[in-house]
Amino acid sequence: MSDETVKLKGADIDIDLPLLGGSMGPKVIDVRKLYKETGYFTYDPGYTSTASCESAITYIDGDEGILLYRGYPIEQLAAQSNFMEVCYLLLFGGLPNQAEYDQFVSDITYHTMVHEQLMQFYNGFRRDAHPMAIMVGVVGALAAFYHDSTDISDPHQRRVASYRLIAKMPTLAAMAYKYSNGQPFIYPRNDLNYAANFLQMAFAVPCEEYQTRETLARAMDLVFTLHADHEQNASTSTVRLAGSSGANPFACIAAGIACLWGPAHGGANEACLKMLAEIGTADRIPLYVEKAKDKSDPFRLMGFGHRVYKNFDPRAKVLRTAAHDVLDELGINEPLFEVAMELERIALEDDYFIEKRLYPNVDFYSGVILKALGFPTEMFTVLFALARTAGWISQWNEMISDPVQKIGRPRQLFTGPTQREYVAINKRS
Ligand code: SDX
Repeated sequence: MSDETVKLKGADIDIDLPLLGGSMGPKVIDVRKLYKETGYFTYDPGYTSTASCESAITYIDGDEGILLYRGYPIEQLAAQSNFMEVCYLLLFGGLPNQAEYDQFVSDITYHTMVHEQLMQFYNGFRRDAHPMAIMVGVVGALAAFYHDSTDISDPHQRRVASYRLIAKMPTLAAMAYKYSNGQPFIYPRNDLNYAANFLQMAFAVPCEEYQTRETLARAMDLVFTLHADHEQNASTSTVRLAGSSGANPFACIAAGIACLWGPAHGGANEACLKMLAEIGTADRIPLYVEKAKDKSDPFRLMGFGHRVYKNFDPRAKVLRTAAHDVLDELGINEPLFEVAMELERIALEDDYFIEKRLYPNVDFYSGVILKALGFPTEMFTVLFALARTAGWISQWNEMISDPVQKIGRPRQLFTGPTQREYVAINKRS
């Protein structure tokens, strides 16, 4: 932290505010004393220029298209690491040695089962319920089963809750999928790695031996790694805000799932594949590009644009290559992938997208891979939430341990009616 200051000087204000610097990225103007000393608030709907916290977990350079998890480039982690190691990295800040890794994987593996009674929650939903609606419900309900890991003041309970959430999300997600198609729930298997175990819970049936396919498990693991964390995005900020009140971690993650569901955020992967299907063929792309540019039309190119990235989302680059490899290895001719690549080419040559610096984001190609893995579009955001639980719970732990942490309570610019007297109904016009 530096001892630099910036001066804020105006009609009736003259204040020096501390300028704080981190290890990378923009410095911040510390406005914590602004209201107390000047009576003024700052105003930043959407938080386009606001740092909500200090964090050491994930760094994004939107202009350069850089994404680092605890300093490691996402491209290197995607190529050389795996989701379990990334979970450890996000939670504890460094790469594990072999013994630490083996212990962590074992700990997670032995938390993958869920309380048998949780299965009854699913029966309360319609079979056609959106799986994200189910996930919001059942993840929040975990607090009703795991009381021994809801005391957030106890570091041991925080760790147990963190492991339980990372371990049980695949089980709950697979159950949501099985419930939607009427197949029986499949229990986790301790002899499979995290991604392979999830795929077997989603696609195995009791009538025959499930054959794990390493290619598919590796692709699933890669998708999880790429979605694991992303700085202070909307759903992570939701988890932090919920956690700032002292809410238990299961409730906080359920809040994050609810926020992620929105089509402007994690729901974009489902919306993007539906958009590609609606476009259908490359000759119809110009029509949709024009719709996306038309201010009178609410349509946006799903999977395009980003609050932070004004260059290529590095995850989209990795996912485009992975989508090609998965389709190639599975021998699938997916016309939507061709449409996606052609849409990317046309949009990136269009002045509107160039001027507004709109590029494909993480949601643009992920749906092609998830469809190739056998998931229906409604499951796509569930898979995003499954992976992002690692980031959410890491950010939650960081927030709880932050010495300056206090309940989040934004203020407002009030533009409503000034004070007025109540009028009895028989005296109103
Ligand atoms: C995720 O924050 C994160 O890190 C999120 C995420 C993560 O890992 O957690 O990266 C995951 O949510 C990725 C984004 C997924 N969403 C989509 O793909 C939905 C489509 N994208 C847009 O809705 C939009 O780009 C956002 C929501 C992603 C970003 O919105 P911003 O930063 O608020 O930008 P904006 O809406 O102010 O857009 C700036 C301009 C606007 O035009 P003008 O008002 O300046 O004339 O660009 C236009 C927008 O109309 N624009 C688009 C567009 N995205 C922005 N125009 C057409 N198609 C688009 N996709």
